[in-house]
Amino acid sequence: MLSQSVAGIVLESPLMLASGILDQNGYTMKRVLESGAAAVVTKSIGVEPREGYFPPIVSVFEGGLLNAVGLSNPGIIHIGTEISIAKEAGKPVIGSIFGATPDEFLRLGSAMEDMKVSGVELNLSCPHVKGVGAEVGSDPALVKQIVSTLKGSLSIPVFSKLSPNVSSVLEIATAASDSDGLVLINTVKGMAVDIYARRPVLSNMYGGLSGPAIKPVGIRYVYEVKKELDPVIIGVGGIETADDAIEYMMAGASAVQIGTALMKHGISVFSTIKKGVAEFLEKEGIKSVSEIVGVAVQ
Ligand SMILES: Cc1cc2nc3c(=O)[nH]c(=O)nc-3n(C[C@H](O)[C@H](O)[C@H](O)COP(=O)(O)O)c2cc1C
Repeated sequence: MLSQSVAGIVLESPLMLASGILDQNGYTMKRVLESGAAAVVTKSIGVEPREGYFPPIVSVFEGGLLNAVGLSNPGIIHIGTEISIAKEAGKPVIGSIFGATPDEFLRLGSAMEDMKVSGVELNLSCPHVKGVGAEVGSDPALVKQIVSTLKGSLSIPVFSKLSPNVSSVLEIATAASDSDGLVLINTVKGMAVDIYARRPVLSNMYGGLSGPAIKPVGIRYVYEVKKELDPVIIGVGGIETADDAIEYMMAGASAVQIGTALMKHGISVFSTIKKGVAEFLEKEGIKSVSEIVGVAVQ
């Protein structure tokens, strides 16, 4: 009753690990899968290894977390070993990639396909690194070119992860409409100031906001894109409870991803949410989780 198929990827439940949390290392990805996640998305991987920014790279506040990690990652050559370890759990592993050009995305996507991932997620949305992420993902023509290049060459599903930091999400979602699915949303660009040091908290000044504070933003993007364009959507942003996951699905998401909540609740958050979703379905007399997808869209 919880199983769900997303762009042909069969998931035992709609709950996936979001890119960037516990997912540069094969053993931690495997642990997350064994503790109840139906799939994991790797940290976003680039062509070369990248150290990221100097600390401070995170700032915690009541409503969530501000981060500017700076896309630190081991590079495409080194992620293969980690992916093979994660795959020992017998569940789907999705490879997240970032680049500056269609060619870079293609190189990374082809390498991921050779590593036998179940799909690739294009990071068109990181809000704090120059020349990639949201800078690429806010140019509709470039988004269209990247997606069509990958769709023309890869045989695994291609997901586009979009930014909330754009003036028209529908324009970008339309440009990415050749994707097998859209992932909404990445972090919301934000900032914090240390009032005693009298300077920005993060070394990069600006960061990306995640956690409960962004849930209404994510719900609105999922709803709006589902209503206007009706693509396959994976919802992400501020999910901490079963009710949050159900809300995203009713707004139009076929599956959801969870990130920041792991820092507060640990990896058991997956089994807790899974149990809560199953109980909700039973209480409401709903046979399959797929029946709730988009029911709130009017
Ligand atoms: C520390 C941290 C690192 C992240 N790194 C990535 C990343 O590499 N690629 C990506 O697409 N999203 C990344 N994200 C964004 C998350 O995948 C997710 O879209 C966002 O945090 C909202 O979900 P959440 O509130 O459940 O965390 C990162 C988020 C955090 C908190």
